[in-house]
Amino acid sequence: MPEGGVIANDETVDQPQGRASHSLRHESAELHVAGAAAYIDDLPEPKGVLHLAPGLSTVARGRILSMDLDAVRAAPGVVRVLAAADIPGENDVSPVGKHDEPLLTSDDVSFCGQLLFVVVGETRAQARSAARFAKIEYEREPPVLDIAQAKAAGGDLVWRSLTMRRGDVEKGLNEAPRRLSGEITMGGQEHFYLEGQAAMAIPGEDGEMRVWSSTQHPTETQVMITHVLDLPSALVTVEVRRMGGGFGGKETQANAVACLAALAASLTGRPAKMRLDRDDDMMSTGKRHDFHIEYDVGFDDDGRIRAVDMTLAARCGWSADLSGPVTDRALFHADNAYYYPDVRLRSLPLRTNTQSNTAYRGFGGPQGIGGAERVIEEIAYATGLDPLEVRLRNVYASGTPRDVTPYHMQVEDSIAADIMKSLAKDSEYFERKQAARRFNADSRFIRRGLALTPVKFGIAFTATHYNQAGALVHIYTDGSVQVNHGGCEMGQGLHTKMTQVVMRELALDASRVRITATNTGKVPNTSATAASSGADLNGMAVLDAVTRIKTRLVAFAAEKWKVAEDAVTFGADGVSVGDRTIPFSELVKAAYFARVSLSSSGFYKTPKIHWDQDTGRGRPFLYFAYGAACSEVAVDLLTGEMRIERVDILHDAGRSLNPAIDIGQVEGAFVQGAGWLTTEELVWDSSGRLRTHAPSTYKIPGCSDRPRVFNVRLLDEAPNREETIFRSKAVGEPPFVHGFSVLHAISDALASIDDYRTCPRLDAPATPETILRCVARLRQAAGSRVASAPADG
Ligand code: MTE
Ligand code: MOS
Repeated sequence: MPEGGVIANDETVDQPQGRASHSLRHESAELHVAGAAAYIDDLPEPKGVLHLAPGLSTVARGRILSMDLDAVRAAPGVVRVLAAADIPGENDVSPVGKHDEPLLTSDDVSFCGQLLFVVVGETRAQARSAARFAKIEYEREPPVLDIAQAKAAGGDLVWRSLTMRRGDVEKGLNEAPRRLSGEITMGGQEHFYLEGQAAMAIPGEDGEMRVWSSTQHPTETQVMITHVLDLPSALVTVEVRRMGGGFGGKETQANAVACLAALAASLTGRPAKMRLDRDDDMMSTGKRHDFHIEYDVGFDDDGRIRAVDMTLAARCGWSADLSGPVTDRALFHADNAYYYPDVRLRSLPLRTNTQSNTAYRGFGGPQGIGGAERVIEEIAYATGLDPLEVRLRNVYASGTPRDVTPYHMQVEDSIAADIMKSLAKDSEYFERKQAARRFNADSRFIRRGLALTPVKFGIAFTATHYNQAGALVHIYTDGSVQVNHGGCEMGQGLHTKMTQVVMRELALDASRVRITATNTGKVPNTSATAASSGADLNGMAVLDAVTRIKTRLVAFAAEKWKVAEDAVTFGADGVSVGDRTIPFSELVKAAYFARVSLSSSGFYKTPKIHWDQDTGRGRPFLYFAYGAACSEVAVDLLTGEMRIERVDILHDAGRSLNPAIDIGQVEGAFVQGAGWLTTEELVWDSSGRLRTHAPSTYKIPGCSDRPRVFNVRLLDEAPNREETIFRSKAVGEPPFVHGFSVLHAISDALASIDDYRTCPRLDAPATPETILRCVARLRQAAGSRVASAPADG
């Protein structure tokens, strides 16, 4: 594999006509770099628009004794102050129907940063400054802040605990030749979308409300607004052209801001806009769940796993939000790519007095995989085998008895072993690993390490009903095509891929196809753009809509020009009808005059999937996406600092819809995953206040943190065996998991301290502090070994 750059699998970033599988550039690429792409705060402000600022609780747990907002109301520019009593409908924005998430709180306070009131002002600055004049008295209670405290306090859960089991785990553990247990902690993660939570609402006549929201889930935002305002859905329209990043952080947590903007607009009759300041955003919205995983594993001397018993505890925050499905997905991925003969997995979604944790790229999957990879690492140190060898010995083998997951789904397509082997060869894993060991033997303070980790990621929403999508396609009489679908653009290139579907089916140039803003008035009852399924679902819905119109056009042309229907084909030069070729626009115009409908909706539902949580059995996923990453790092034992020297990734995007965009997704996801596991750390003080609520204290990866050498390749000619859109595979979340190769590479570097005899048990994030603590532990292990060694040892 060539070094030093990204390998595009495709030769061009321009637009050969009629092919879907090419690297058409992102539809907004030029707008993005020119600053011309409109986000919520860029929309022209309607006359009389009001601005909202939140009043947040400063106490993590307790009761509000009194809330005196007179000084807030009297402050300059304040038009109105909204509190719980002002809500005409239901004061709740729980996305899962648990009714445990008041939009504005007036009595019990559940975390520091909770929304208590909202100032509606003439300007944003006036609203923000007025919010500070609130006088609030609280009766404080000691907060439950983290997993350990939550367990100690009795383990109150925000959602039911799920157990998956197969075989007899007790027997498996007891009969295994070897057995060990341990634990791993993985921290949370702030989404750090560039565009913060934002919405603007414009009231219409007769109760109508139009809302522009930076949301991944316009339908749910619409529904939440109808609850809060007590309106039928038909009166509320939500639109999103694009988000400046979502990463799961706008799957549910965009709702509150949109509801407040709509509430203010409804009560004042004026347009209203709310855009959270970065600090307020970080203080009030949920993040990735941090996890504490305890494992008990039985294995044999060859490093083969016999049994795994794992408990996955998560800090969920003050309300359920999506913590149920997130902790479920952690269980669905606690096997990663490995077969566990006897297994029991249990989730513990713990309630805490912190922000309500939510979806974040991978949706709990990465945390489950973190448990699996630690188990592999433990076995490697226990047996003295290379971790890659242990991985290969345990990987799912399709078509053998070793292909069943803990949720009883057959892994029909395991290519994880092939991918790992191919990447190991191309990246020269074993050779470079030897070289690192030689380097470490002579290096006192700088240590090098390598790791190669796989990913197997299940694709589909585990809530079966979410796996549906709609689209609406119009062809105008000039032959241009307008497309609307249920998915949202957040930078991932979904609209570009949808454009390609239309281009391919009608053999049109990209300039003839326009994807319009996602709008609940055009495509209703949509699912969140999440679970990496945006292109899978909406691509098929768009294809369905286009095919319906195309079928009509073909029938019309065949009849008009008296040819067989299969003599009508769409090509780059136009539409061939028998031996004549007609420009697409002319065919369309002729069809219009013949009164053929040029508009259609489309629909898709994912086949084959089902899941029964009561029995813990089913086929929750249509298929798996695979990949592997090999990372090399250098660690400074004196400072705990770490540098990523080289990364090689081989990723499976099926028959990629757009290799350039998919490689971008893989690169971005890897960096985000590596950031989660190394530099990004959330810190709450003992009073429950989040101290890392700004980029000054919360460190996301910067340009200088990128790997020195970064080779990303997509698997060649790897069509999905399932009938997905043009046989592609979802790509948004799975490559996030490649970040684990960095954590394990650091671990490998540190293991040199005790001559690779002790599993470093490195927790995440592996910040310099964590690394130094691990260095001290390993030095102690090495020291005690020397001290207790026999005289001749
Ligand atoms: N890429 C960009 N640039 N911005 C984002 O917010 N979100 C990720 C991923 N890639 C995200 C992104 C997440 S969490 C998901 S679930 C998928 O994109 C959603 O989009 P898709 O289903 O169309 O892949
Ligand atoms: Mo992605 S976490 O499913 O929005």
